[in-house]
Amino acid sequence: MTRIVHLSDLHFDRVDPVIVEALKAEINDDPPDLVAVSGDLTQRAHRHEFKRGAEFLRSLRAPVLAVPGNHDISYINLVQRFADPFQRWRRYVARDLEPTWYDDTVAVLGLNTARRAALSLDWSNGRFGMRQLVRFRKRCEVLPDHLVRIVVAHHALHPPDAEPDLDIVGRGDVALDVFRELGVNLVLAGHHHRGYMRGHEPVASWTHGLLVVQASTATSTRLRGEPNAYHRLNVEADGHVEIEVRAWDGHRWREVAAREEGAPRPKRLKAPFVQPMVAEVARRANAPAGLG
Ligand SMILES: [Fe+2]
Repeated sequence: MTRIVHLSDLHFDRVDPVIVEALKAEINDDPPDLVAVSGDLTQRAHRHEFKRGAEFLRSLRAPVLAVPGNHDISYINLVQRFADPFQRWRRYVARDLEPTWYDDTVAVLGLNTARRAALSLDWSNGRFGMRQLVRFRKRCEVLPDHLVRIVVAHHALHPPDAEPDLDIVGRGDVALDVFRELGVNLVLAGHHHRGYMRGHEPVASWTHGLLVVQASTATSTRLRGEPNAYHRLNVEADGHVEIEVRAWDGHRWREVAAREEGAPRPKRLKAPFVQPMVAEVARRANAPAGLG
């Protein structure tokens, strides 16, 4: 069994220091095999925020796999945003923006969905790129078949039932189909500071198909009607996953019920566009070198 702690949207330095210390103590009292961080480590991508965030991650008694979120790119320093948006991430957090971690049971694959710009006015929504999905396919194809595959990415793949108009990541439908095709069991994400899970079967004991787990913010004071929360996951070699949601009650971390949402929502992209793009990802991944 592999034990994973899933944290998201920590947002240093807009954090509650009491919650940060209590979180560190909880994790270090019972360290997991891996801490997976699905983006937005900082609030405004300032240097001092990265320093504090990285210091927190280094203080955990477990390996850390982290991917950037939209807040980890500067909105103020536009020269840096466009010239080298992940410079500070690389310097303070990790050189690899899409790391992989594995043991005998799981392979955890990071995907970076934060983008320096978008065609729309809102640059915060993020996107999966076609080349990125091709690379992801190649990463999966060299993995041993028996490993349970887990994706960590910042942006939301599904909106919550109660707020169907919340933005989801660009090409999320394509990515989900690519994930399904490649046997991905779990996606760990964040962004909206809302915690919920959506799969195709009851999630209390998840063994089949693809489950998307969205986390609330672990430590930020910017709450969206939900308490701070994080996840502890136990992943068995047969793909069975148990998920414990732990929320801050104002004094301590406590286990709370997971919020399971209904059937997958209708696709945002028109279905006729999704399958050809999924097929194109497979074609490019299998093309001879230089043609992909
Ligand atoms: Fe975000």
